[in-house]
Amino acid sequence: MTEHVLLIGGTGSFGRATAKRLLAADYQVTLVGKHRDRLQAAQAELHLPADQGAVLDAANGDQLRDFFDHQPAFDHLVSFLGGAMAGGFLSADLATIRRAVEDKFFANLLLARLAVPHLNCGGSLTFTSGSGGSPATASGAIIGNQAINTMVAGLARELAPKKIRVNAVSPTWTPTGLWRDLSPRDRTVAEGQMASQIPLGRVGTVDEVAQGFAFVITNGFINGQVVKIDGGIDLA
Ligand SMILES: NC(=O)c1ccc[n+]([C@@H]2O[C@H](COP(=O)([O-])OP(=O)(O)OC[C@H]3O[C@@H](n4cnc5c(N)ncnc54)[C@H](OP(=O)(O)O)[C@@H]3O)[C@@H](O)[C@H]2O)c1
Repeated sequence: MTEHVLLIGGTGSFGRATAKRLLAADYQVTLVGKHRDRLQAAQAELHLPADQGAVLDAANGDQLRDFFDHQPAFDHLVSFLGGAMAGGFLSADLATIRRAVEDKFFANLLLARLAVPHLNCGGSLTFTSGSGGSPATASGAIIGNQAINTMVAGLARELAPKKIRVNAVSPTWTPTGLWRDLSPRDRTVAEGQMASQIPLGRVGTVDEVAQGFAFVITNGFINGQVVKIDGGIDLA
């Protein structure tokens, strides 16, 4: 039977590329995004019918509850929720650090808690972590990623009795919609700076990261892992 994957944030760059790979492997996908125009563009790109997508704020518990209550159960859920931030523990505003942890960790924790009752036995949950950066210059983002990695380990044990696997994929800087507010010049500069920090001397492609998501969804024996698709940026 065709397995059904819900992609929260699936209208973004990693989401669309992951959906493309899953569709090619005969999975059914449903995309959730925050903006209707981006959902419609993603559905057009992937040739998806309108009922395989929804617009909602996935950080809002009431909207999430309402969504799950009106859907059949899913086999797999992938979350791309999270963002990026710059600034150290002293240099960044407390509110900025708090927001980064909220958007990355608590939004995904809430999602997991509300989604689990709607996941079929034998399915999976996959989160998006992140590699690279340093605590002194990306304080809240690093805490958020570390919290995701810790949550993966905990949830994988807690959900094992339901045969639900839990993993994360950890990309480093990748040219995605996350950076849509940068000018083309600033984006090129950022890409060059990141490439110089990555042992392989280049940034990854969106599809290389999407391969990681497709892998952890389709491989039924990978569990409790954070799969780094980051060119080895954190190697000493
Ligand atoms: N790109 C990188 O350099 C990089 C590096 C490390 C980690 N990451 C992680 O990758 C994830 C971002 O993915 P991306 O790079 O592909 O960015 P993206 O293209 O901006 O995609 C993000 C997606 O999430 C959706 N979204 C955000 N907040 C939402 C909410 N509250 N409710 C529903 N949908 C929401 C967006 O919908 P709309 O478009 O409608 O707003 C969009 O579809 C984050 O977790 C980020 O921390 C990215």
